[in-house]
Amino acid sequence: MKHRRLMDIDVKEKKVLVRVDFNVPMDGGTVTDDTRIRAALPTIEYLLKEGSAVILLSHLGRPRGQVVEELRLDPVAQRLSDLLEMEIKKTDSVRGPEVQEAVDELVYGEVLLLENTRFEKGETENDSELAREWASLGDVFVNDAFGSAHRAHCSNVGLGEKLPAVAGFLLEEELSALGSLARGEVEHPYMAIMGGAKVSDKIGVIEALLEKVDTLLLAGGMANTFLKAKGWEMGDSLLEKDHVSSAQEIMKRAEEMGKEIILPSDLLIAREISEESEKEVIADELIPAGWRGVDIGPATIARFKEELDKAKTVFWNGPLGVFEVDAFARGTMEVAQHMAEIQAWTVIGGGDSVAAVEKASVAAKIRHISTGGGAALEFLEKGTLPGLEILREE
Ligand code: 3PG
Repeated sequence: MKHRRLMDIDVKEKKVLVRVDFNVPMDGGTVTDDTRIRAALPTIEYLLKEGSAVILLSHLGRPRGQVVEELRLDPVAQRLSDLLEMEIKKTDSVRGPEVQEAVDELVYGEVLLLENTRFEKGETENDSELAREWASLGDVFVNDAFGSAHRAHCSNVGLGEKLPAVAGFLLEEELSALGSLARGEVEHPYMAIMGGAKVSDKIGVIEALLEKVDTLLLAGGMANTFLKAKGWEMGDSLLEKDHVSSAQEIMKRAEEMGKEIILPSDLLIAREISEESEKEVIADELIPAGWRGVDIGPATIARFKEELDKAKTVFWNGPLGVFEVDAFARGTMEVAQHMAEIQAWTVIGGGDSVAAVEKASVAAKIRHISTGGGAALEFLEKGTLPGLEILREE
């Protein structure tokens, strides 16, 4: 699918509305990870250089149409100002006279950040009145919020439908990295490692990936449901009983297609989720009551590494165990480190897997780290997203 691009339009002396994804982790009013803000800089800097007036829109958290003081965007404006080394104007409202006045006063070469878009109920409802009001503020719309492109909300979809709309540089970079994975136009062997807690959220993407990959490595809480389907006793492990049959179907489908699904052959189990917990490795398909799987075991780590050595392309989403607890982080850390060493095109999508490669200090060695979690998975599953459809070239 072709998208209209920022490079192809004239933005000089235009008021440009840019949807960014500044939904960043915060702690007590401080931005604790500014990756998403940094990722939006190329588009903002380009617009400033070209002589536009830049109006930024973003959500933060899930305030559900209410003003929530802790979710105001002031700390984000401050961090953006530090990164761009210039003043960033900001409104305390999302719409109405204060916003209109700030936009009227905005000069080319300046940046204005509107307040959290989700303080307005109409944002998540994709309200057309709100879209009209926002669209009246500018001449052009740039979508650079890949992380939110799976949402059909007002600030990315409704607004984008009412103005000439193009993809920003971050969005383009994500599409070029993830697009080839979604289409399977990559060097083989192509492997996907899927982890994380729940299989129910990821059935669609697992089915879509099976069509494209040669091997699927499954671990983390979601693999428990597959192990149960294979007859393991899972003790007190996280398990989605309602999805054991989906796991069975996926394994059957893989077999029919001649694709390999590799599940853990051993697990680290623990009595509780704590650093001090009693723990042991089991490989006999039987987790006793009162114990739960918390990481892949050493034989599985070795097997995953061996598979990765053969790969030319790897996509990874979701941790392989409860990696936030150091005592249960070995599988996730070792696989992250190994992924950084292999000669393959490596891509990571999803908040927790990004945190994992950062914890393992190997983020710089991964070829592409997506700024979207849910968006990356939905894009791999469907090949498009609501926030991209409005940019489609006729
Ligand atoms: C994200 O962090 O995944 C995006 O910013 C979307 O946020 P949401 O899940 O609250 O819509």
